[in-house]
Formats: sequence, structure tokens, C-alpha cells
Amino acid sequence: MCGIVGYIGNRKVINVLMNGLKRMEYRGYDSAGICVLENDDLITLKKKGKVSELESLVDESSFDSTIGIAHTRWATHGFPNDINAHPHSDNSGNISIVHNGIIENYMSLKQGLIQSGYTFKSDTDTEVLAVYIGALYEKTNDLEHAVRLALSEVVGTFGLLVLSKTEPEKIIGARRGSPMVLGVGDDEYILASDATAIIQYTKQVIYLSDNEMAIISKDGFTTKTIDNKATKNTIHEIEFNIEQLEKGGYEHFMLKEIFEQPTTIQDAFTGRLLADKGNIKLGGLSVVSEKLRNAKRIIITACGTSWHAGLVGEYMIEQLAGIPVEVEYASEFRYRNPVLYPDDVVFAISQSGETADTLAAVHEAKQKGCTVLGIVNVVGSSIARETDAGIYIHAGPEIGVASTKAFTSQLAVLSLLALYLGRMKNLSQLDGKKIAQEILQIPDKIKSIFDHSDEIRAIAKEYSSAKNFIYLGRGYNFPVALEGALKLKEISYIHAEGYPAAEMKHGPIALIDENMPVVFIATHDEIYHKIISNIEEVRARKGKVIAIANEGDTEIARVANHVIYIPETIPMLTPILSVIPLQLLAYYMALELDRTIDQPRNLAKSVTVE
Ligand code: F6R
Repeated sequence: MCGIVGYIGNRKVINVLMNGLKRMEYRGYDSAGICVLENDDLITLKKKGKVSELESLVDESSFDSTIGIAHTRWATHGFPNDINAHPHSDNSGNISIVHNGIIENYMSLKQGLIQSGYTFKSDTDTEVLAVYIGALYEKTNDLEHAVRLALSEVVGTFGLLVLSKTEPEKIIGARRGSPMVLGVGDDEYILASDATAIIQYTKQVIYLSDNEMAIISKDGFTTKTIDNKATKNTIHEIEFNIEQLEKGGYEHFMLKEIFEQPTTIQDAFTGRLLADKGNIKLGGLSVVSEKLRNAKRIIITACGTSWHAGLVGEYMIEQLAGIPVEVEYASEFRYRNPVLYPDDVVFAISQSGETADTLAAVHEAKQKGCTVLGIVNVVGSSIARETDAGIYIHAGPEIGVASTKAFTSQLAVLSLLALYLGRMKNLSQLDGKKIAQEILQIPDKIKSIFDHSDEIRAIAKEYSSAKNFIYLGRGYNFPVALEGALKLKEISYIHAEGYPAAEMKHGPIALIDENMPVVFIATHDEIYHKIISNIEEVRARKGKVIAIANEGDTEIARVANHVIYIPETIPMLTPILSVIPLQLLAYYMALELDRTIDQPRNLAKSVTVE
């Protein structure tokens, strides 16, 4: 949430900042702003709304500066308006800052500063930090020292960049709880919330650790802890390409990402699935294989879509490995003093690797002595680095705010994990081989679902005026019902609920009438006939049924108003297929309703505040 970028080098900084903001806009789009050091002065431009609004204010040709900072906002404190937009400055106008995170003790700091005669223009916590750094700078005359002093008093989270006209040769960056990446180029350095803002200039990056600072100048960089101890860093190479950050001819990133899934799934299992042996090789877990073998219990913790993936993972692991699994919302887990034992293994699932609640759950589980592992997409992210070991899902950058390809890659990795654990336990090689063969076929099966895009679009058109939707599934398809409903809510703003189909009779059935579309995920498994009965119950109350069913199912068309057919696979892999039409349905509904699909209102891609 919020994207920040700062650059120092030989390029015209305005272009670097504007590009960086566009690349990171998925982190927040309530306002955007820049501050550049031009002719010894700080020039600030900021505007409510998307980066395109700011762009209309900025005449790039009128700037020559090569040093500056920028911000794209997801509002926490104060309305999204021009005044609350970042950058914010201190009272003297010497210092400008951009900030991602929350300063929890901003009120007490603000009151102290007001008593000392300082004034404020905005409602933000960030301005308090700017004014506080400015006040400490008046006393110390040393920007770095003032920043360190201020940050040692701050309670909360920050990814912070500080620029000053009195020490114009540097930018100071610092982080605690919010991500920050340092790009190391030839005589140019860039600090940003994520690597998407950096890749255009260099692929060499350093992922800063919590409580670490970086000071960049044209001559180089230094890193240290906030309490001024030198730190050592490793330079990593960014793994994705700039083309992966483009829409590639698609109208929206979300559609591109949906259509990328045959490839991203393949990338998730390539090199890991030893199909002819029915075995799995997960190099990232080799250091903890004994812990996994002896685990009495697995706990999966995550938020949102990643939590839905965790629910599917629970079913997979219990089925193949017989290890009890519990799935916890990270936001609940972190605060409810969970009972954890040292031989519990905790998996944190996160696309971004930066979700504040999931990261806090990782800390809680580590504190209690558990082995904590990550299933993460973004390489070098906080969760990837703070877990004991883990598995990258290799889905590539996911730019659409609504998660699609990351979800199916999480499911693919969880199926590998279940098979890996199963083969450690009692699963036979023969059964392992059968499952592996099914996994291999998934990418082609997804491709065949795309042939139904036009039908799904027609269904979306027919139901786009509906005010509510219900999604129902059983067994492996229950989490898919939750995920389908979430996708619809997020991008179309239509109210939708997901339920286990059998729960319908315990309440939600009261909602069914001729205006209620009900999406049933009714693929073949041992409880298929039970779900057909649930469909009959909805039809008897005049509800409209959209069913996701397997090709060759002749029974379903008799009871459903619409059927979207998908290829058959084994039940544990079905969610990877059955979610695809639901992603497309949500997408086409949002398209019908002319929503801002890649940047739905109130949301941001990476939830770095709790
Ligand atoms: C939904 C969505 C969110 C995320 C959730 C967790 O489409 O994207 O629900 O799944 O915020 O994010 P990560 O996986 O980055 O931890």
C-alpha cells in the first residue's frame, strides 16, 4: 500500500519518478506526488487521484533535476485530497518526505510539536514525521542524525524517503515493516517500494531489511541500521523482465494475467515435478525436510485470496499426507495467542510477501518456536526472507489488483507440497505417478477453458444488473466458491457470498428468489449428486443457476439455466480449473459495468498496513 520511489543519478529525475509511479500505481491510487530538487529549491507537485491526474500538472520538459522523490497513495490518515497527498514537508520547507506505512504515535508527537509552535497543513501522520524530522534537524544540523533520532521515537511502520535542500547531494531511505528495494546502477541509485519501479534502470538490487537505512548519493550508497551500525548486503538480480510489466495487447492486466495461467502453472511445477517417479523435488524445503517429516500438525496462515488457496491446501495435504492442517486468517492468528508447539510447521502464503498481517503471523509463529515456511510470489519480499525456508510460486509480477494467476500458482505449489508430504508418508509411488500425470495436463486443460470466454461474456451481460450473487461449492470446490464471490465483489462491486453448498439450507436459502443468480461449482466427485440436489432446491425457489460442470455431464443442463463446461481432472486439482470461469465471469461483469478493473476502488495490491 502506497508506492514510494527516489532517484539520484544522471538522468532527468522527472521521467524516472513518473515511470516509477506508473509502475507502482497498483499499490495505491488515491493521490500521487513528486518533489524534485531544482536549482537548489524543492519543487513539489501533488494531486488527488491517479498518476494520470498528476501527469497533467507536470511539464516534464521544464525539469532538469537529477534528484527527487515521489509517492502514490492509498489513504490511511485523512481523505484522499491534494493537501493530504505526499510528499510532505517540514515547517521550514527544507525537508520533503514520502512515506508508506502508519505512524501509530503520530497524535502524541503532533501535540508535542504544536506545543512547541510547529504547524500542520494536512491530516496525515506523515506530515507529523516530516515536521518532527525538521525540528530535530534544527537542533542537530545533520539530516541523517535527525532522521535516525526521529525514527527511534516512532511507533508503527514506515518505508520512508527524505530529501533536503540543505543537504542536497543525498536521499535517505529507511524501512520498518514496509518494503524497500535499493537499485544499484552505474553512478545512479534508486530506492523504491518494489522492484517494478527499478527494473527499467538496473536489474541489480538490494532488499533492505527491517530497521535498515540506505543513504544514496551520485557517488555510491551506504546501508546501516537505524541505530547506526553498518550492515552488509547482497546484490540480487531481478528475476522478471520489463515485458512482464506491460499489458501485452490485453485491455487489462487482469485479463492478461488470467490468460497467462497455462504458462504460470507450468512455471510453478517445472523442475519440481518428477512425473516418471511420482516424486517431488522442492529444493527450498530440503533444509527442513526432517521437520516436515515429523510435523504433527501444519498451520497455514494467509489473507484474502491466499487464504482461500490455503483452504484448498488443507484438503490436499490431509488427503495425501494425513497430516492435520489448520487454516488461519493471519489477522486473527496474530492477535489471539494461538496454541502452537515447536513441532508445528507453519506455512505463510502470500503473493506479495509483504502483507502486514501475514508477516506479523510469521513473527508470532517464530516467536513460539515453530518452523515457519513461506509460499510466496515476490522474490526477496519480507515474508520470503523472514521465513526459515519456502517455495516460490514463480507466477511473475501480478499487476491487476484482483489476484488471479497467483491463486492458481499457489494451488499448483500446494498440490506439489501435498504430494511431497504424501510421498514422505504413506502415499504409494503408483498413486504419486497418477497425480503427477494429472498435474502435467493442467496447463492444456486451462487453455481449453478459454474457448468458452464468449459464452461466459454472454452470461455476464445477462446478469450484470443483478444486485447480489451466491456462489456454492462442496469439498474442494467450497474454497473456489469463496474465491469466485471475492473476485466478483472486488472488481464489479456486486455483493456476493460464497458458501459450502450444504450450508445453504441453514440460512442463505432465505435469500433465493427469481432475482438471485446462484453459481454452483458442480464438478464430478463423490458428492456430485448431493450438489445436484442443492441445485434443485434453488430452482424450486426460482433462483437462476449458473453451473460450472465437467465436459460430458449430460445431467446438469436439465437443472441449470446456464452451464460452463470445464475438463475433468482429479478432485484435488479441480480448483485450478474451476476457478478460471469464475475469474472470467467477474472480469466480464466488471467490463459490462465499466469498472476500473485493474484498480478497483478502495483496494491496493499489497496490504502493508493492518
Ligand atoms: C484478492 C486479493 C487479496 C489478497 C490479500 C493477500 O484478489 O488480491 O485478497 O489475496 O490481500 O495478499 P497477499 O497474497 O499478497 O498476501
